[in-house]
Amino acid sequence: MGKEIYILNQQSSIAQTYLNELRDVEIQKDSMRFRHNLQRLGFLLAYEASKTLDYTPHEVTTPLGTSSSQQPKDDIVVTTILRAGIPMYDGVLQAFDRAQSAFIGSYRASEGTEDVSIVSNYIASDNLDGKIVLVVDPMLATGSSLWDACEKLLQNGTPKAIHLIAAIGAQEGVDFMTEKMATLNIPFHLWIGAVDPSLNEKHYIVPGLGDAGDLCFGPK
Ligand code: URA
Repeated sequence: MGKEIYILNQQSSIAQTYLNELRDVEIQKDSMRFRHNLQRLGFLLAYEASKTLDYTPHEVTTPLGTSSSQQPKDDIVVTTILRAGIPMYDGVLQAFDRAQSAFIGSYRASEGTEDVSIVSNYIASDNLDGKIVLVVDPMLATGSSLWDACEKLLQNGTPKAIHLIAAIGAQEGVDFMTEKMATLNIPFHLWIGAVDPSLNEKHYIVPGLGDAGDLCFGPK
């Protein structure tokens, strides 16, 4: 069973700048730039994920001849958790522009307690059997909403593989998801920008970046 965690900020690259800008309280005041940086990270992580997919040969005709190329073999479904996931989802969709989409609505009914309840609705057009499913959630805090989303998705079929894509995670959430995903008989990968050390009492990632949904779209 393929399992892999890829952490983007373990290498020096321009992605470090995007992550730092996401965290910076001054730059966060520009919500358009905040969304743009999430989108850019989504694209970069999707590109890394694309290196693990299967491809079929594809020949293209150029004005001067033919060139052999390749395209993804399997159907791809990009899923996100509303609302904070939207900009990263958009970046992932730019990489996989022929993918289908699915959306999950989710919220914490009781913030700051151990018992975080999640209410979700799954919206998708058809089943996920044999497909590559990319689940985009920018903040992997406790992992409970992401796991809830995965369980909802799995009611719609058995994907060939699941790829989780996040900007920042807490070590606790990364461990939780790794454990939960290992209980499924489905290969999975986690593609993440950075893993931070802890969560606070309200289940926010520390140092993290604050509330990603509010920073993208304004306070609730
Ligand atoms: N969701 C956020 O937006 N931020 C966190 O730190 C955790 C969850």
